[in-house]
This record gives sequence, C-alpha cells and structure tokens, in this order.
Amino acid sequence: MTTRYRIALIPGDGIGAEVLPPACAVLDAVGKRHGLTFAYDMLDWSCERYLSEGAMMPADGLERIRHHDAILLGAVGWPGVPDHVSLWGLLIPIRRQFRQYVNLRPIKVLQGVPSPVAKATSDVDLVVVRENVEGEYSEIGGRLNRGFPDEMAVQEAVFTRPGVERILDYAFTTAQQRNGDLVSATKSNGIVHTMPFWDELVREAGERFPHVAWRQEHIDALVAKIVLDPARFDVIVGSNLFGDILSDLAAAVAGSIGIAPAANLNPEREYPSMFEPVHGSAPDIAGQGIANPLGAIWCAAMMLDHLGHPEAGAEVFDAFSSVLATTDVRTPDLGGTAGTKDFTRLVLEGIAHGRPSE
Ligand code: NAI
Ligand code: MG
Repeated sequence: MTTRYRIALIPGDGIGAEVLPPACAVLDAVGKRHGLTFAYDMLDWSCERYLSEGAMMPADGLERIRHHDAILLGAVGWPGVPDHVSLWGLLIPIRRQFRQYVNLRPIKVLQGVPSPVAKATSDVDLVVVRENVEGEYSEIGGRLNRGFPDEMAVQEAVFTRPGVERILDYAFTTAQQRNGDLVSATKSNGIVHTMPFWDELVREAGERFPHVAWRQEHIDALVAKIVLDPARFDVIVGSNLFGDILSDLAAAVAGSIGIAPAANLNPEREYPSMFEPVHGSAPDIAGQGIANPLGAIWCAAMMLDHLGHPEAGAEVFDAFSSVLATTDVRTPDLGGTAGTKDFTRLVLEGIAHGRPSE
C-alpha cells in the first residue's frame, strides 16, 4: 500500500533553491523503500517575488497550503530586502497562523564533523525546544517622537499561561522520551515579571512530570556552560528569544550552521508543520553549487518522523551520518571540496543500499 503526501515546497532565496532538491530526492528515495510517495507543490514565495510583486507571498497564500501535509522551506532573505520584511512577510505568518508553537532543533556532533568546541565529542546529543509564537517576538509596542531628542521605542513581551504550558508540556514530554533531563532557560533575576511567571509554570510542569529531573539556569550562565560542556545537556526549553539564541549557539557547537535542521511543529496536527534548515540564504555562496544540503536533508528526516515514519527518518539519518563517518566527501563549509550534488549522491546511494525495510 502506498501512502501519498502533499508537500508545499518553498525554496525561498539564494541557496534555499539549491538545498531543497536534495531533500526531495532523499524523500523520494527513502519513500520508495517504505511505500510513501510525495507530491510537491512548488511555491515561488521569496524576496525575489517581493521585489517584483510587492509581497513575499500572495494574499491567499496560507489558504493555499492550509491542507498540505507538511511544508519544506529552504531559506528566505536577500540583500536589498530588509530582513524584517522577509521574516514578518512569510515565516512568522506561517508559524503563527498554523499554530506552530514548537520550534524543535536537535543538535548532534556527528562523527567526521569537527566541532569548534574542543570538548564537543559525539556524546553531544541535545534538543532545544523553543517557544515559537509568543514571548519577546510580539508586535505590541510602538515608537514615539521619531527624530526628536526624546525619541523612544517600547516593545512588550507576551507570556500567556496556555502558551507557556503547552511548550513546557512538549518539552517535558520530549525529555521523558529521552533521558529524563531538562533545563529551563530563564532570566528571572533581571526580568522581573515574565520570567518569574515562566519559572512558576516550569515548577508546575515539573510536578506533572515526576520522572523528569529539571533545573533552571539563567541564560547568560547557560550559554557559557553549553560552550564549555555541551555533552551534559539533553533537553533545553526556552522562550522565543532565548530559544532562538540557544539553538544557533548549539548548532555552531555541532560544527556548521549548514548541517542544522529545525522543525516548526503544530503538535495537534490541525495545521501543516514546517521544516526548514537553520541556515539562511547564504548570498555569499549562492549559485555556486557548493551549499551543504545536510541541514535540509536532516529536515526531511524530521518531516518523516512527524508524518509517522520514524524508521524512514532513521534511515535518512543513518545514510548521511555514514557518509560523514566513512568518506571524506564534504562541502567547503566542512573543509572539503565537494559540491552539493556530490554529497547528495552519496547519501542517495547509502539509502539505496540501506537495510531492507521491515
Ligand atoms: P546564512 O546562514 O545565510 O550564512 C551565514 C554563513 O554560513 C555564510 O558564510 C554562509 O555561506 C554559510 N552557510 C550558511 N548555510 C550554509 C550551507 N548550507 N552550506 C554552506 N555554507 C553555509 O546567514 P546570514 O548570512 O546572516 O543571512 C543571509 C540571509 O539569510 C539574510 O537575508 C537573513 O535574513 C537570511 N536568513 C534566513 C533564515 C531563514 O530563512 N530561516 C535564517 C537565517 C538567515
Ligand atoms: Mg536564529
């Protein structure tokens, strides 16, 4: 029996268009072994579209992809278009309208990928759970007296009980399924309303999950500890801003931003979830065929997990980890000379020769 999925593809800008075809090729290859087929709808939503038509996506854009099974996104952003336009014109509306309140970023130090952090060995295997729709990234606030000496700006952080509880439940559940260890990022010594509230809700969540050992760390001390000893972490949960910073930091610890994946999840599955590599459009290397496709391929593996095919996701993970562990084929960001296609070809070969599916 074949299961068919409809995937919305948003390559976006720059290397986004170079890393999505490898991810789709991998999905097709692993799908063949597991009775899954993928129909892709390609959407040209991007800064290029913004420059020619004045909007990152059509007015009814979200309606058009509302019923797809998942969204794969490359990267958006291009010189000449302010980053807040690409972010608020595309990514943030998708995350918010589709209630993708979990941003999940697994971080592993892979064999064959040296980390800039000396102590980061293959014991590093952690996941950052970032709150993705409220918190510090709010539109509430404003600017007054522009151009006068008393010019000012105010921006409100918004923390709601249901918003914090659901991300904590997701993080504690994830910890329970892993090693039962969770760290909450806070700053309640300096931020005196929202962060103590966050801490209280963490304590309550801790009572709902008696098998998870949790502690809280102030964000400043926490980032230092991640750099000094990343292997001691399992699940880290943070607000929108803290989670954003933590996940890029942790991705850098793993060796290259080009390999890090992210999932924007609507855990209730009322709306499609979106999978996107952590990296941006990399204008400095775009068009050269040397972008590392691994972040996007890892996203495809996360998408398979989310769609209920963890064994297919694991095959993808095994295929790219074994290319790194057993060959010296690397794109330039990892110190090699291979192109996007060379690396992808080896991953596809690994999948074709992989374990027969059960
Ligand atoms: P970037 O991630 O695009 O690039 C940072 C550095 O990492 C560059 O030197 C780039 O060549 C390298 N790099 C990134 N991904 C790579 C890959 N797959 N393979 C090899 N090397 C890779 O971040 P940057 O330069 O700050 O931003 C460029 C544009 O991308 C901006 O417009 C920014 O707003 C946008 N951006 C979009 C994101 C998204 O779509 N979620 C996330 C981050 C940035
Ligand atoms: Mg970020």
